[in-house]
Parts: sequence; C-alpha cells; structure tokens
Amino acid sequence: MNSPVKTAVIGHPVGHSLSPLIHNHWIATYGLTGTYEAIDIPPDDLAAGVKKLIAEGYAGFNVTIPHKQAIMALCEDIDPTARAIGAVNTVAIKAGKLTGYNTDAYGFIENIRQQKPGFDFTAGPALILGAGGAARAVAYGLKQASVPEIFITNRTAEKSQKLAKELGLSALEWEKRNDALSNKNLLVNTTALGMNGQPPLKIDLSALPTTALVCDIVYKPLMTDLLTAATTRGHPVVKGLGMLLHQARPAFEYWFKTLPDVTPDLEQKLQEAAQ
Ligand code: ATR
Repeated sequence: MNSPVKTAVIGHPVGHSLSPLIHNHWIATYGLTGTYEAIDIPPDDLAAGVKKLIAEGYAGFNVTIPHKQAIMALCEDIDPTARAIGAVNTVAIKAGKLTGYNTDAYGFIENIRQQKPGFDFTAGPALILGAGGAARAVAYGLKQASVPEIFITNRTAEKSQKLAKELGLSALEWEKRNDALSNKNLLVNTTALGMNGQPPLKIDLSALPTTALVCDIVYKPLMTDLLTAATTRGHPVVKGLGMLLHQARPAFEYWFKTLPDVTPDLEQKLQEAAQ
C-alpha cells in the first residue's frame, strides 16, 4: 500500500478555511490515500513551520492569509504565473525543495468558463473593483484570457495606480466607478465590500450594458447585494464560491497527480459550509 500523501493549508487564522472540505472530498471521491489538514502558523513561525512540514514528508500545501507573499522567500522555484501575480497560494515539495505556484487566476477564469461557457472575454473591456491580492490574480487571469482593455479602480488610488503600471491596466478614480461602467463587458468585485460583517458595496449599475457579466469574489453571502442587483437588471452573474473550488483543482493535481472535477454534490457541500 502506498504511504499517504500528506497535504495541508497553512495560514493564520486558518480554522475558517473551506479548503480541507474540498480536498478531503476529492481524496475520498478518487479513492486516494492521503490527508489534507488546516495548520495554523503565525507569521513569525513561518520558516520553522514549513521546515517541519518538509521534515514530516508533506507533498505540499496551500498558502492563505497572511503568508501568500512571505512564502515566496522560502521557495527554491516560483513558476512564472505566481511571479507575475506576486503571490504564491500553492506549494509542491519535492526532495525537500519548495516550488511555488498561484492557481487563483486559473480558478477565476475557469469558474467563468464553466458557469458561462458562452461568455466571450475578448468582446469588450473589463472593470475590476479593488487592488488587493485577489485583484492582482483576477487582472492577470483577464490578461491571459485576452480581455482587450482592463480598467481598475480602488478606494486607495496609489494601489490601483501601482497595479495598473505593473500589469498594464488603466486606473480610474474610485469616485468615477458608476460612470466607468458604460461599454464594459465584465465587472468584477474583488474588494471585501458586501461580505458579511463588512460595509455594503455602493455602486449604481445603470450605465452597465445588460449583456455584461457581473462577478463577485465575495462568497459570504453566496448571493451578494451586487449579484442580486445585477440579476434584477438581467445581467448574467457568476458567484464567488466557484473561484474557490476551481483554484483548488490544479493544486490537488500537483500533489495527487489527478485533476479533480467540481461536481454538484461538492458545490452543495461547500455552499452549506459557507453559510
Ligand atoms: P484580498 O487579498 O482579498 O484582495 P486585500 O489585499 O486586503 O484582500 O484587499 C482588500 C480590497 O478591498 C482592497 O482593494 C481595499 O481597498 P484599499 O486598498 O483602499 O484598502 C478594498 N476595501 C476594503 N474595505 C473597503 C472599504 N470600506 N471601501 C472601499 N474599499 C475597501
């Protein structure tokens, strides 16, 4: 019998993570011998914590807040996507050496492709709200998907301007976000606004063409006010939980050599856990 493939998500805090549910579902579904745990590692203990995982024979791990940037210094290799995004969310360990990947951009794009197979990324410009880590991955994914022009707006203008410069986007003032919606083919919220316990996202969708796709990466609640407002106006919408599911697929493949599927029963399980 093969020895179990040990995997985990590391973060601080990490108890809220839905990743163990996803990966353990796939381990069981595909009849694999392995484990996926949530391991809390405080920032000061990152290097020691990772050393321990190597010593214990882990095949790899996911990385969540606040380690996505700090982990890069501990990786021997960083793949070009993770380097371009500037963050690592997945690590594979081989012969004691760490390789860093980022599967968030893939997760964002692949979720749209599966939920809205007819959506044409090249049909018009996109607007991204927010300029944090998630916005970086979304912008990189949209560029890879050949979106003709990507606009970005953020409460703190310096952050959107910096990101725009690095990734070749067009930065807009946060106060102009409503007017900026005209002629857009895609609107993505990557801010924390609209999440349970956070302030609402104030946006007036009137100028957005009704054919435009509206995405939210917030998944608590599953249907954010933004998605509800968009649905009322007749827009196609894509919910945030799917990105979480799809970013997990290539990570699982790095460790278990099987690209798993997102199935309705897994979606159902995750929806219940996310509430
Ligand atoms: P993530 O990695 O999930 O993107 P983050 O890096 O903390 O998280 O980014 C959070 C995003 O939500 C930022 O764009 C942030 O705007 P600032 O750069 O101005 O902080 C945005 N955000 C959070 N609270 C906000 C608020 N009350 N109003 C407007 N934007 C907000």
